[in-house]
Amino acid sequence: MNQNFYARHWYADVYEQFETQTNDIDFLLEVLKSIDKPESILEVACGGGRICVPLAQAGYNVSGFDSDEYMLLRCIKKAKGLPNLRIYQADALKEDWGKHDAIIIAGNFLINIEGDMDYKAAQKMLFAKASEALDAGGWLYLDFDLYANPQTVFTSTGKRYYFDGTDELGTTGRTVSCGSVYDGATQICAGCSHLELKTASGESIIVPRNWYKHIPTLPQVFTWLDEAGFDTFKTYRNYSAEPLPDSPDDKLWRASILARKR
Ligand SMILES: C[S@@+](CC[C@H](N)C(=O)[O-])C[C@H]1O[C@@H](n2cnc3c(N)ncnc32)[C@H](O)[C@@H]1O
Repeated sequence: MNQNFYARHWYADVYEQFETQTNDIDFLLEVLKSIDKPESILEVACGGGRICVPLAQAGYNVSGFDSDEYMLLRCIKKAKGLPNLRIYQADALKEDWGKHDAIIIAGNFLINIEGDMDYKAAQKMLFAKASEALDAGGWLYLDFDLYANPQTVFTSTGKRYYFDGTDELGTTGRTVSCGSVYDGATQICAGCSHLELKTASGESIIVPRNWYKHIPTLPQVFTWLDEAGFDTFKTYRNYSAEPLPDSPDDKLWRASILARKR
C-alpha cells in the first residue's frame, strides 16, 4: 500500500470520529419541514454521509456526491438499507449536478472546497451550479462559517494539533497546523499543515497539506446568490430562528441561508 492510501484512509476515518455534531442536521430537518416537501434533494460534498444519511432516514429522496472515495466508502456503508439514498463520486466544480428540487451545501463546504480553480471563482461556481440544478421555485440551503474578523482567526503562528486518533487499520497520528496568514485585501488566507502518521506496521508517514481559501463576507454571499438567480428567503444565525444581522459583531458565526431560485 502506498502512503497516500494510509493517509487518506486515516483522514476519512478520524474526521468521522471528531465531527460528530448533529445540531446542524436537526436544524436543517426543521428548515426542510418549513417548506413544501422536496421530491429530490442533492447534498453536494456529502463526505461520509453525516448529513445525507439522516435526511434519507427522515424519508427524503436524497442524492449525495463527493470527490473523495475514502469518505464515500464510509457513506456507502451507512446507506445500506436506504433505497432512497443514492451516493456517487463527482467533482462539484467539474461535473453536472443533475436536476433536483433542493440543493444542500452544508458542513462548511463553501470554505472547504478542493480543486485547482481560483478559490473565489470556485465559490461563485457553486452558486451557478446550484442554480443550473434547480428549476424556478427550487431551494438552496447553505450552511457555513461566517467570520467577522478573519484577520484574527486566520493569522496565527506556532503549531496546533487536531484530529488526533487511530483508524480501523491501526494507523495512528494527528493533523498538525503550522500557522496561517490572512490578506485582508484579497480575503485569501493560506496555511501550512501536515499529517503525522504511523501505520500499524510501524512505518512513519508525513503528508504535507498546504491550503488556501477565500473567506467571503455576508454581502458577497448575497451578491453571488443574486447573480446566480436566487432570492434570499430566510437567514439563520447559529442554528436558531434569529436572522443574520447586517454586520457581524462576534468572532465567528454559523450562517445558514435558505434561498429560492427565481
Ligand atoms: C468539511 S467536509 C464536509 C462533509 C460533509 N458534508 C459533512 O458535513 O460532514 C468537506 C467535503 O468536501 C469534499 N470536497 C472537497 N472538494 C470537493 C469537490 N471539488 N467536489 C466534491 N467534493 C469535494 C471533501 O472530500 C469532504 O468530504
